[in-house]
Amino acid sequence: MQSNILAVCYLIGSVSFIIGLKLLSHPATARRGNMVSAAGMGIAILGTLFLYKPEGGSFHNYGWIAGAIVIGTVIGSLSARRVKMTAMPEMVSLFNGMGGLCAALISIVEFGHIAQDHSDMHVLSIIAGMVIGSVSFAGSMIAYGKLSGKIKDRTFRGQHIFNLVILFTILVLGAVVVGSGGASPVVIFYGILGLSACYGVMFVMPIGGADMPVVISLLNSFTGIATACAGFLYNNQVMLTGGILVGSAGAILTILMCKAMNRSLKNVLIGSFGGTVASAEHAAGEQGAYKEISVNDTAMVMNYAHKVIIVPGYGLAVAQAQHSCHELEKLLRSNGVEVKYAIHPVAGRMPGHMNVLLAEADVSYEDLLELEPANEEFGTADAVLILGANDVVNPAAEDDPASPIYGMPVLEVWKSKLVIVNKRSMRPGYAGIDNELFFRPNTSMLFGDAKGVLQHLAGEIKEL
Ligand code: TAP
Repeated sequence: MQSNILAVCYLIGSVSFIIGLKLLSHPATARRGNMVSAAGMGIAILGTLFLYKPEGGSFHNYGWIAGAIVIGTVIGSLSARRVKMTAMPEMVSLFNGMGGLCAALISIVEFGHIAQDHSDMHVLSIIAGMVIGSVSFAGSMIAYGKLSGKIKDRTFRGQHIFNLVILFTILVLGAVVVGSGGASPVVIFYGILGLSACYGVMFVMPIGGADMPVVISLLNSFTGIATACAGFLYNNQVMLTGGILVGSAGAILTILMCKAMNRSLKNVLIGSFGGTVASAEHAAGEQGAYKEISVNDTAMVMNYAHKVIIVPGYGLAVAQAQHSCHELEKLLRSNGVEVKYAIHPVAGRMPGHMNVLLAEADVSYEDLLELEPANEEFGTADAVLILGANDVVNPAAEDDPASPIYGMPVLEVWKSKLVIVNKRSMRPGYAGIDNELFFRPNTSMLFGDAKGVLQHLAGEIKEL
């Protein structure tokens, strides 16, 4: 009877993950999706704690489990509340690393429990969970270090070959352990653990800073697979379903991000794009003169335009200027101006970054244009106001085959009558490359922190 109820708990958990994922795919329902999945996970955990009967008795370590849950809950909720939106990829990376570490620890514990009657699949699950989990853990920690600026991109000649040798050694040693049915010397098992962690570090180390969000998504997929291995090991359906869903969602997201940047996964993994390398190469670019525009003149242009399209980017998130942006939008609307937002799929530093940012300020989803419709509408706009975006509006992606971002779909803001770019300086964006848009005849630069500029702009418009 108890095991039947437990099976129902697992079923509820699995279904809630799927419904949660579906709800997560739209900003309006994403919060609910998170709650639904978390509730399903809660039911599965409680079911396991109180209904699962381990062989030869019952759980006896409730104190430890409760303690770990309380500590994890407090740390998780405090850090999620405090994290700045721009530091979200760092946090995702840390949390993902913890998932990988858990999967690796499960394998380590279970290797010590291997009994005489185990199957080869059992040992294979243990080894696969440990290898993938520790690669994900070590790689996520390096990704976290890179995103927070604590670790620089480091590479050496022949690193990719070195990485392949480590990977090959892991596979051979793994095959030895599985072939021996887990009876091989324990030093081989721990050797695989050490090599896997080393591979995680070496695999992420040379990848360019700009590509970290893609790498995190890939590592997220690895963690999902490692969890699925643990689910297979314990014959636990909810772990298996959860792991498969995370594994496939991470893989799909990785592919979508690569597509949005028009780059292959191979190019992301060995291309050393962005960060220090690209900046050094392109910092010297001389582009001629640019025009500046004052806040006063911008207020006049905006207020007397028929249609304005706002392009938010990473700088808007840094300045936390989403509320000021929404205020400006409402003010313009009340003066009869049509206002829309053009959202690039990789604007900011994480998938859906701009959608989440604008949703925080209650900007209506109906006013958001995706890349293709936006590119069709720019020609009809009197003015485009770019707020802290750079790479996603760089015409080099279309015009300059030598550019590292060539081929990436961009927002064709230059089709509008006038382009006003707000940023603090002429410094490049994340890809570290110059932007010729800033020097075009119909572009004017509006320097300053996005929040200050938007507040000043709203003040000026009110005076008109
Ligand atoms: P970026 O190209 O990074 O440009 C952001 C600009 O914002 C900078 O040039 C900066 O110029 C300006 N800025 C910074 N702080 C500001 C502030 N307080 N006020 C006003 N401006 C400020 O951003 P983007 O156009 O959004 O492009 C995103 C980049 O990240 C792309 O290269 C994309 O490929 C990469 N990326 C994104 C993702 C996802 S999923 N979103 C994943 C991987 C890679 P100043 O310093 O002069 O102010």
